[in-house]
Amino acid sequence: MTTRALGSELLEPFDYNPLTRVVYGPGSILQLGKLARDYGASRLVLFTDSGILATGHIDRCLQSLQAAGVATTLFSGVQPNPSSDDVEQGVQVAREAQADFLIAVGGGSSIDCAKGVNFVLTGGGTIHDYWGVGKARGPMLPLIVAPTTAGTGSEAQSYALISDAKTHVKMACGDQRASCKVAILDPELTVSMPRSVTAATGIDALSHAIESHVTTRRNSVSQSFSRRAFRLLSQALPVVLDEPANLPARGAALLGAHWAGAAIENSMLGATHALANPLTATYGITHGVAIGIMLPHVIRYNEPAVASLYAELAAALPSDAKFNRAQGSEDLTAGEVLACYVEQVVRQAGQPTNLLELGVEASRLHELAQAASVQWTGTFNPRPVDATSLEELYRCAFSA
Ligand SMILES: [Fe+2]
Repeated sequence: MTTRALGSELLEPFDYNPLTRVVYGPGSILQLGKLARDYGASRLVLFTDSGILATGHIDRCLQSLQAAGVATTLFSGVQPNPSSDDVEQGVQVAREAQADFLIAVGGGSSIDCAKGVNFVLTGGGTIHDYWGVGKARGPMLPLIVAPTTAGTGSEAQSYALISDAKTHVKMACGDQRASCKVAILDPELTVSMPRSVTAATGIDALSHAIESHVTTRRNSVSQSFSRRAFRLLSQALPVVLDEPANLPARGAALLGAHWAGAAIENSMLGATHALANPLTATYGITHGVAIGIMLPHVIRYNEPAVASLYAELAAALPSDAKFNRAQGSEDLTAGEVLACYVEQVVRQAGQPTNLLELGVEASRLHELAQAASVQWTGTFNPRPVDATSLEELYRCAFSA
């Protein structure tokens, strides 16, 4: 009797612990007050930024919370790429309010800031004490979040990314207790994004789907999320860039970003993020802009190691996806198809396509590569990277 082969990957172990309830749908933000009350909130702090405050979304949140009888303190001072200073200010506000519950409504910055505050508020010290994994010092406050961008997928993750206020080094502070109790995914909240934000956050989410699919930590659970995320994002991104009010496309992008975030939680990221972080720290380049430049080059670099995995993603591209194929090269590899697709989305978004356009100096590529080589995320890249290969990747992207 013969044994039928079903694939050795089916025996690869994983440990999947879903921690966040997901409530999805247009208008679902109106459930915020009831959800907070159901989870025991009596005095909460709501974290957001001044841009979101101006959209009117927060008014709807406050009305819902008021109707549920929950006392709310507003902290609307979250900055992009939140720093240790932002966390300190948030902790102070939460202490004064004697908060027993936290809410974040905004992009990844507001969500990460609230998570960072939660670490320090419940465990003392400073956010630096929580840099790393599993450093929470006891139970943390319940946290409900509602993303207003379709980007980081922070609502699906147990990590807070907080920059050191002085060095600008990004600290990843992760603990399962920092996970959100509930993520409210309401596509209506994302319609207000300016086009440049839709583009940068959407390209970031796309990179999360592609990178998480191939990391050394990938497993069948994370890859299910990655593939679903990639399919949704590759369908939705070209549409939301041209039709910002297209609610089904906004919903697909929001869900895609969320599933990509769930993939990261289970598989981490790769070299694209290792390369992008020093560009943001050194030149203040928007994360999704740096990602859009570096991702195609990393895909090409990784292809020898993960060609079959890239083929799975390339097969999921919408049939009408078109790219500027090089003349006479109909037989593009899967990695090349993916890289060309990303380049096309970056061009459609109107984002820069090389580092030179952003004022990066050739003389500093060596120093940037040194910084990239010590990024934790690079250790999960499927093809090993070091300072030399990372510098070569920067050079490929310099005037591409
Ligand atoms: Fe990212």
